Amino acid sequence: METIREVLKNSKTLQGPFPEFHSEQVSDTPQELFLIWYQMALEYGVPEPHAMTLSTVDEAGFPDARILILKDIDQSGWYFSSSSMSEKGKQLANNPHVAITFYWSAIGRQIRIRGQASIMGKELSARDFLNRGKVARALALIGKQSSVLKDHQELDEALVDKLLEIEQNPNTVNPNWTLYRVEAKEVEFWQANEERKHIRLKYYKDREKWLKQLLWC
Ligand SMILES: Cc1cc2nc3c(=O)[nH]c(=O)nc-3n(C[C@H](O)[C@H](O)[C@H](O)COP(=O)(O)O)c2cc1C
Repeated sequence: METIREVLKNSKTLQGPFPEFHSEQVSDTPQELFLIWYQMALEYGVPEPHAMTLSTVDEAGFPDARILILKDIDQSGWYFSSSSMSEKGKQLANNPHVAITFYWSAIGRQIRIRGQASIMGKELSARDFLNRGKVARALALIGKQSSVLKDHQELDEALVDKLLEIEQNPNTVNPNWTLYRVEAKEVEFWQANEERKHIRLKYYKDREKWLKQLLWC
């Protein structure tokens, strides 16, 4: 029988074929290139391309990471939403420095963003909240994300009550629900190559201007 070490060794990665990436003909800003890559991810049927890993650090400087959904992107940054009372919310209040990572295996692409998160206004956060599905809103209104759960019954009972409340007041908003924007200081685009000559292009900010450099793979 194969050992787990052998199973891992025999697991395939970065097999391709992959789309081409002409790193010399790219957009002036990483946001523009992100949108071009995102479009390609959709065309290639990458599952959930808007799922991203958000990394934060806690008070002791210990890193933490979890998957979130990308809510928007514009020239000022990448947006996500969550409860400000969750672990990540507390970590962000203490230290807004974050990293965001996307990996789209079907096209062999990774995008790494490092920057600073800031809180968007109440109105934008409320709009994001009201756009969520009923159960997601009910759970957010219960407001216990990342607290200890006694058993599944505790969740089911709280959910029934909250769903009823939402039926009666469909515009109720959890004041802790927060839309965050990550303003990037650097963004790296990584394109896999079947012969392992991967392409890495990094955008970095120099006094409000985006500059670019290639990196060794
Ligand atoms: C595909 C996927 C999408 C998710 N999207 C969100 C999201 O947009 N916001 C959110 O708060 N949690 C989302 N989660 C749950 C988080 O990964 C995490 O479990 C939760 O936010 C608690 O994290 P924390 O304890 O670090 O605060 C998502 C999980 C997955 C797997």
